[in-house]
Amino acid sequence: MDDFFITTEKDKINLALVHRFLSEQSGWAKGISFATVKRSIDHSLCFTGLLGNRQIAFARVITDRTTFANLVDVFVLPPYRGQGYGKRLIQAVLSHPDLQGLRRFTLATSDAHGLYARFGFAPPARPDTLMEQYRPDIYGRPR
Ligand SMILES: CC(C)(COP(=O)(O)OP(=O)(O)OC[C@H]1O[C@@H](n2cnc3c(N)ncnc32)[C@H](O)[C@@H]1OP(=O)(O)O)[C@@H](O)C(=O)NCCC(=O)NCCS
Repeated sequence: MDDFFITTEKDKINLALVHRFLSEQSGWAKGISFATVKRSIDHSLCFTGLLGNRQIAFARVITDRTTFANLVDVFVLPPYRGQGYGKRLIQAVLSHPDLQGLRRFTLATSDAHGLYARFGFAPPARPDTLMEQYRPDIYGRPR
């Protein structure tokens, strides 16, 4: 057994670490400001993976805690990848009491389909019904 621990307590989040990963290392939020990360966290259900006192993983769920959820900003820090922490993080998300019985649980991924497929995620059943406003470069633009 290791001492990996997952919590939804917001005061356990290392905001500087999450901001650094998202703004510098993620493939989806390069350039995001600290204020935007903080505000997104304030309004989400967040999962923080701690090894001892050190944060090594994170996931954020945008949700009404009743009918719908969207999983975003999932990461395990590079030195800790490939050791099962990502799977434990997703398992914790899907086990959360406020995320049961949802009508729809969405996520977007460029290459981790295999990770999510093992938890029952699949391509949209009816992609023709989905629409979006997609602005992938928004964090590089002045607000
Ligand atoms: C994706 C990520 C969170 C996985 O965390 P991890 O701790 O390395 O994953 P685990 O060790 O729990 O194993 C993940 C499992 O999913 C599989 N998998 C499928 N696609 C994968 C991918 N793109 N990256 C990592 N694992 C992937 C792995 O092969 C592994 O399966 P296995 O147990 O049968 O070997 C981590 O690699 C990461 O932070 N990547 C960069 C950020 C990112 O891409 N986030 C996802 C955005 S949707």
